[in-house]
Amino acid sequence: CGIVGYTGPREAYPVIIKGLKRLEYRGYDSSGVALQNGGLNVYKKKGKVAELEESVVGKNLHAHVGIGHTRWATHGEPNDRNAHPHQSASGKLAMIHNGIIENYAQLKGELVKKGYTFKSDTDTEVLLNFIEEIKINNDCSLEEAIRIALKRVVGAYVILLLDEDNPDTIIAARKGSPLVIGVGKGEHFLGSDASPMLEYTKEVVYVNDYELAIIKPDELILKNLGNEKLTPYVQKLDIELAAIEKGGYDHFMLKEIFEQPQTIYDCLRGRLDAVAGTITMSGVQQYAEQIMQANRIIMVACGTSWHSGLVAEYIFEELCRINVEVEYASEFRYRNPVINKGDIIIAISQSGETADTLVAIETAKEKGAIILGVVNVVGSSIARISHAGAYTHAGPEIGVASTKAFTGQLAVLTMIALKVGYMKGTINEARYRQLLNELNEVPEKVAWVLNHHEHIKKIAEKYKDARDFLYLGRGYNFAVALEGALKLKEISYIHAEGYPAAEMKHGPIALVDENLPVVFIATRDAYHEKIVSNMQEIKARKGQVISVITEGDEHSASLSQDVMVIPEADEIVAPLLSVVPLQLLAYYIGVAKGLDVDKPRNLAKSVTVE
Ligand code: G6P
Repeated sequence: CGIVGYTGPREAYPVIIKGLKRLEYRGYDSSGVALQNGGLNVYKKKGKVAELEESVVGKNLHAHVGIGHTRWATHGEPNDRNAHPHQSASGKLAMIHNGIIENYAQLKGELVKKGYTFKSDTDTEVLLNFIEEIKINNDCSLEEAIRIALKRVVGAYVILLLDEDNPDTIIAARKGSPLVIGVGKGEHFLGSDASPMLEYTKEVVYVNDYELAIIKPDELILKNLGNEKLTPYVQKLDIELAAIEKGGYDHFMLKEIFEQPQTIYDCLRGRLDAVAGTITMSGVQQYAEQIMQANRIIMVACGTSWHSGLVAEYIFEELCRINVEVEYASEFRYRNPVINKGDIIIAISQSGETADTLVAIETAKEKGAIILGVVNVVGSSIARISHAGAYTHAGPEIGVASTKAFTGQLAVLTMIALKVGYMKGTINEARYRQLLNELNEVPEKVAWVLNHHEHIKKIAEKYKDARDFLYLGRGYNFAVALEGALKLKEISYIHAEGYPAAEMKHGPIALVDENLPVVFIATRDAYHEKIVSNMQEIKARKGQVISVITEGDEHSASLSQDVMVIPEADEIVAPLLSVVPLQLLAYYIGVAKGLDVDKPRNLAKSVTVE
């Protein structure tokens, strides 16, 4: 979910609506605002923010204080009733919430016994009434009631509250879900990330877990749950507004795909020096000894970030000779994993806020593991909790389907592996130098792939009505097959499966007929002849072969109905190139089907619930 707040001299409604649109990538099944204008006015609506705007035409929207929410449903289906903000039983309090209250059923039971009834199916309304009940019962301030209530709450949350009796104040609290406060002159902004406030201020405070903020136009008070005052640490943002706008592209996703030559370059810049033969990564350097001596590296991530970990597994094992495991954060955290002293955990996350990843590394940290973060969003929770790490520097990624963050992660992970392998002596000077040059050339080669986008668009139009797709790859490109299939599923709603090419014989081959497009990631590498045999196997069963191949590979081209080409590259860096045509293929299929590729149904960019 996305949350926004404003208190100050401006008209609050336009600030909030604009902010919600910027945060819509976090969830968009319903949205709403609460405004202080001589009483609380709450407007909410199922659907995207634009639908909320239509529904409030003609209403009184004049206010200087307000909060807004865009929802990704957890408890209760997406409808007007379950949309946030919620109002308390007395109608005097309004609240928005991002996260999950795990013990809501118990709290609800207690309230029902006291005669409370509920207008929605949400855990949020339960928490709000629980707070109000404490306020009335204890005859205390709202702030005090929130503190007491939160001590009883199990779960993750960011909450923002408005109180009719204190019309210029917003009270906020967080545990586990992100909250940024923008500090302006005589005004304050709130957001799940900095994007809603970027055009007004660059001074921000990241609120930490178990902190409570009391925000008035000219005052920001930060406290812990023990009611002790804390000094807000004001930081300067270095994101420009242009970075979060579409800049002439039809969709954020397309813009982000096309930004990759630049974002990969930004990621390498200042780190990789191919002439001097050095890789400078201070965070990694700090733990260099421990990494070199590690018996095991565990990559922990979700979604696309998990796929980059899977590519990195092969790269680390090859270059560093260290045993690597790649774990879904959600599985890792709940199964009492074996963590030995000296294990290195690499947490990979675009947002730096994914709840499962965050909790997984918290647990591992308690057990003595060293945590390295490979994170895109600067200052995010995972970045802060890690011992050290390296940012991907891809800039804000807004399209829900991750693209440039993935290649940024691969670039960072490859650099770490190269650095460690070279220090350890598991790769020789010549190979090290060669791979530095290869990495250095990636931005240019990605630009070359992007130049062929019109051709990929034609392929997309040809196959857009397929019901299923199979993606096959081996070795370094195995995870690229998974990522290609994920991209297609996410934005075109076509069922797609990624598989190791040879393993296909043990099941998926049963699906093959003349209607099934099979995408081979068959660039030239050590396994090339093997994957060519797999192409023959599909062709023999009349499947439609589409392949991503290396320029000049006539033989593979002759086995394929359609080909997407990448330039010659070493197999270690090939995934950085071979994924790009698959991103474009998914994008153009989504567009050809008339779908909203930036906001695919049911998905959210940043999953801050488990
Ligand atoms: C969500 C997003 C994916 C992303 C995954 C992990 O599912 O829709 O695009 O890969 O979360 O997110 P993270 O921010 O941790 O990389």
